Amino acid sequence: MSGPEAKDGTAGVNRATDAATKAGPTRDTIVDFLGDIFERCGDAGYLGEPVTMAQHMLQGAWLAEQQGLPEEVIVAALLHDIGHFTSEFGTFSMQDTQDRYHEDAGAEVLADFFPSIVTDCVRYHVAAKRYLCATRPSYNDRLSEASKHSLILQGGPMSPEEVAKFETNPNLERIIQVRYLDEAGKDPEMITPDYGHFAPMVRRVVDRHLGPGAEA
Ligand SMILES: [Fe+2]
Repeated sequence: MSGPEAKDGTAGVNRATDAATKAGPTRDTIVDFLGDIFERCGDAGYLGEPVTMAQHMLQGAWLAEQQGLPEEVIVAALLHDIGHFTSEFGTFSMQDTQDRYHEDAGAEVLADFFPSIVTDCVRYHVAAKRYLCATRPSYNDRLSEASKHSLILQGGPMSPEEVAKFETNPNLERIIQVRYLDEAGKDPEMITPDYGHFAPMVRRVVDRHLGPGAEA
């Protein structure tokens, strides 16, 4: 069971950090572990965009909540770029000449705690850009310069074969929703709540997925 400080996800940061450093996050510590990443690393720049990484992810989640989307989608938007902080490859820069696969790193960190709707949205948010560029010609106009740059590193628009395979994913609709939230979350003027606002929701999504009393 979670201790009282872990239930609201806003405290116990040091404990989460210690535990994560030693053995990786657990069911009890994952909400604080993720909050700790926002707190320690969220000021990092985001891919040459005019927002920090934390602002970017919080904006996507906030927009999703305002649109009344399911909690799993809100949480997926909140965590979609978490792999930039958990990957040994570090964060992207405009000087990169090869892709860093942050989407896989993020999905791996979340896989023990979150349902596939969340991990698929994280794992495939880059693929979704390649998919949308191939299937919706106007989508390319929405991309920022940094996103166009990374698209080239990520393989460019999908081939017809890749499109057909991608469309078999049962979470396709949600993956695309998170991709649009990703593009929308780059507004330097937007005010959002901080991670603590979303932490109880993150806890609910984890608990719904793992069930009562289950241990990660
Ligand atoms: Fe993003």
